[in-house]
Amino acid sequence: PRTAAVIPAAGRGVRLGPGAPKALRALGGTPMLVHAIRAMADSRAVSLVVVVAPPDGAAEVKTLLDAHALPERTDFLVVPGGDTRQESVRAGLEALPEDYDIVLVHDAARPLVPVDTVDAVIEAVRDGAVAVVPALPLADTVKEVEPAAEPGAPEPVLATPDRSRLRAVQTPQGFDRATLVRAHETVTGNATDDASMVEQLGLTVVTVPGHEEAFKVTRPLDMVLAEAVLARRRL
Ligand code: CTP
Ligand code: MG
Repeated sequence: PRTAAVIPAAGRGVRLGPGAPKALRALGGTPMLVHAIRAMADSRAVSLVVVVAPPDGAAEVKTLLDAHALPERTDFLVVPGGDTRQESVRAGLEALPEDYDIVLVHDAARPLVPVDTVDAVIEAVRDGAVAVVPALPLADTVKEVEPAAEPGAPEPVLATPDRSRLRAVQTPQGFDRATLVRAHETVTGNATDDASMVEQLGLTVVTVPGHEEAFKVTRPLDMVLAEAVLARRRL
């Protein structure tokens, strides 16, 4: 089975603050997107990486791919993204050649995921799961609240789900290609991950162990952590 990775990288990165689109911001001197592409291409199973670029940034992303050394055995495609993550992933899926039957979807904003995590996801799909997510137990207790109208106002707590049954999920998420395409064709509403769309088809999604270093760069403090992880790797 041939495996491709789709990397949604079309977001602005509003929560990170003003600046270039998040995927193009530098981490250890190299754009976050290049780290994410390498993280996928480093897996020997991945033979194609489809980058979903900011709508006005496809040319810039192509230039980046030429400027950075990437594994020779991997092919690359660049397509423009959409207004939501879901639309961006769909654009990537539409660009996928026929002969790939396993698809990974990986956030450009998770530049430091280790290759062992990528391989574990692929292996679980090869073993027959239609959808696989890397997952970690939560450190914090989680509350369900009645959301306040104004930000910062006190919010009544409605419930405390049993933390031992909760998981924080990461990417890459791995899929049987036909299943993911069907999910994107039929599920509407704004899903924040692809696996939840497969759940909505009534199919079973399974987890594999995630990794701390697969955290998502979302807020400024995450950049501090990412730089520290990179510096530790370079020791
Ligand atoms: N993404 C995308 N297209 C969009 C929105 C998001 O391809 N229209 C991608 C982002 O580039 C990122 C991933 O989806 O790699 C996860 O999204 P998130 O962390 O929310 O990134 P942003 O949407 O860029 O950040 P923010 O929500 O803070 O603006
Ligand atoms: Mg977002």
